[in-house]
Amino acid sequence: MTKDLLLPSLWDDAHAATLDEPGLLLYRSNLLGSDLRITNFGGGNTSAKVAAKDPLTGADVQVLWVKGSGGDIGSMKLDGFATVYMDRLFQLRAQYRDLSQEDAMVEALSHCIYNLNPRAPSIDTWLHGFVPRAHVDHVHSDAVIAIAACADQVRLTQEIFGGDLGYLPWQRPGIDLGIKLGELAERNPHLKGVVLGQHGLFTWADTAKDCYLLTLEMINKAAVWLDANVKRPVFGGERTPALPAQDRKAEARRLMPLIRGRISASEMKSGHFTDAPEVLDFVNSHALDALAPLGTSCPDHFLRTKIKPLVIPAGADTATLDTLIAQYRADYAAYYDRCKRHNSPAIRDPNAVIYLIPGVGMISFAKDKATARISSEFYVNAINVMRGASGVSTYQGLPEQEAFDIEYWLLEEAKLQRMPKPKPMQGRVAFITGGAGGIGSATADRLLREGCNVVLADIDAKSLDEVTAGFAKRYGRDMVRSVVMDVTSEAQVIAALETAVAEYGGLDVVVNNAGITSAAAVEDTTLAMWNRTFDILSTGYFLVGREGYRIMKAQALGGSMIFVSSKNGVAASPGASAYCTAKAAEIHLARCMALEGAPMGIRVNVVNPDAVLRGSKIWQGEWSQQRAASNKIAVDELEEHYRKRSLLQRSVFPEDIAEGIFFFASDLSAKSTGNFLNVDAGNAISFTR
Ligand SMILES: NC(=O)c1ccc[n+]([C@@H]2O[C@H](COP(=O)([O-])OP(=O)(O)OC[C@H]3O[C@@H](n4cnc5c(N)ncnc54)[C@H](O)[C@@H]3O)[C@@H](O)[C@H]2O)c1
Ligand SMILES: [Zn+2]
Repeated sequence: MTKDLLLPSLWDDAHAATLDEPGLLLYRSNLLGSDLRITNFGGGNTSAKVAAKDPLTGADVQVLWVKGSGGDIGSMKLDGFATVYMDRLFQLRAQYRDLSQEDAMVEALSHCIYNLNPRAPSIDTWLHGFVPRAHVDHVHSDAVIAIAACADQVRLTQEIFGGDLGYLPWQRPGIDLGIKLGELAERNPHLKGVVLGQHGLFTWADTAKDCYLLTLEMINKAAVWLDANVKRPVFGGERTPALPAQDRKAEARRLMPLIRGRISASEMKSGHFTDAPEVLDFVNSHALDALAPLGTSCPDHFLRTKIKPLVIPAGADTATLDTLIAQYRADYAAYYDRCKRHNSPAIRDPNAVIYLIPGVGMISFAKDKATARISSEFYVNAINVMRGASGVSTYQGLPEQEAFDIEYWLLEEAKLQRMPKPKPMQGRVAFITGGAGGIGSATADRLLREGCNVVLADIDAKSLDEVTAGFAKRYGRDMVRSVVMDVTSEAQVIAALETAVAEYGGLDVVVNNAGITSAAAVEDTTLAMWNRTFDILSTGYFLVGREGYRIMKAQALGGSMIFVSSKNGVAASPGASAYCTAKAAEIHLARCMALEGAPMGIRVNVVNPDAVLRGSKIWQGEWSQQRAASNKIAVDELEEHYRKRSLLQRSVFPEDIAEGIFFFASDLSAKSTGNFLNVDAGNAISFTR
């Protein structure tokens, strides 16, 4: 038996001794939620019944602390628990007659809230409240769900857990299931918990520690039994050999923009790819064709992954993709029509979330990167469940109508309606060169704030790490990636853009911004200086622009490129002929690309900064001294000098340039291409003409 099959207890008595009852509940919840073998992200809930004083009357009351709506038990804090009066829960129970009242009962839960706690109680509250024990855990362990998804789940529950766990068949969570669970526990005081068909595990005990240990014990029992009994090779063995790792990644990179282009009509999608061993075991197996269409079992799984995945052959051409994706949508619409009720919400996005590619791995697409990643993790949960269940019995997905009733539950719809409106750049992917610098990082910040995924590319690895870490902290680790790249190297540029596609599934925005300055009178300009300036600025912008253009064209969703040129790209200035000419070339390149890109909806525009001293590395070096000397002022007078020189008499900051770039990156400028925008506080010599 492999060592990591068994979950170890992480309970620390000394630490626990310092905690009160809510603290112990939180401690136990965080321990349980920190291991994906115990429960999936956001799945499961925990509770404790705690004696308290009523804040209004001072009377002694019993309060149920139970994980509220939203959040994840692994990372939740105390404010993630809803608190409800136990006696009021029982008053509602006394009023409950039949299933037609279920949704109204959920609304009535808000009348049970203790201490004006703003955390909304979830539909699982009932499953905790009526169990006559102080502590209850509910988790979605893959090992237990595997057993709960077998055709002979009742017999297996008995065989594996002896008399310790009872069994209840699948039923949508709500007061009705809560009452059944409570009655089962009351009638069978020897039971330590219950297996819920197709769904998961409930355990209960008198102390927080006992409840925690019991949950681990039951999961371990299931895992050990499965390990000993699963038929091998798993999934009937290999049908399609895995491609070499390099080729798997390359094929995923080729397919992702093609899929994304076909499924992003109603909402831009972000992608995620994995070729983890357990994924390859499944997608390469003989069992794939039989199991994939059955759909997932646990409701948590398919709410994220949709009822079933789409299988795509490696090497699929665009015509094949068109056919398969259209077929999936038609199947989904047919499922909706078969199952819809008179008051069902309108059909939602009919595209698949999970794409399985034999020999290659799994791609997922969702409204943002975090959701795509989590959906992919959920499908791995589903694979684990199918491996266990199909290895010891016959795997059963959730019946179609049950799945539909969860997916289109009016309460679920209400939750969706309450979600904040998507940000303007949500789901889009931007690639920014010089991303570690002043203007580049201000641009990244601006786009991240609007919900955009950002890939920062820069030659300066150290600054890049710092800037990226800061953004990951502020906006979440899913939103930002970085790649070290020299814009003068064709190979590095190609590889960097491939990274962007592999990480997010496509490309919508390219910000050509990496730059240096050079200054010398014409007769002192060496060929080396001239070439270096052109290599980084003009040729660098060309290489990045060309690769971005190729990806956008294949993806067929249009796109926006922004070239950060300079006031000097329009206005000649003395002592910097190489720089001015290279910057002018960037502007003209942008126009040429705007011309060719227009039929594909690829827009190319230019932002011209001037004298952005703050945050700019360019202005930290020699350039400042040269500029100060040529203006016969001190370096620290430069900012004031440029301010006074501008028409508006204002300083220009990196955020001002970022604002202009955001305008061109977003749909605000949907009807502009081939333009340039000066963000320089006004200089007559750079006026457009
Ligand atoms: N700051 C200004 O006053 C000003 C004015 C006009 C135009 N611009 C232009 O704005 C852009 C950004 O400038 P900034 O002020 O943020 O400067 P910055 O020096 O802060 O940022 C430029 C970034 O480009 C990176 N870089 C340099 N060479 C590279 C290469 N070969 N490959 C990849 N990355 C490379 C640098 O490491 C740096 O992080 C530049 O193109 C610059 O010419 C700036
Ligand atoms: Zn559940």
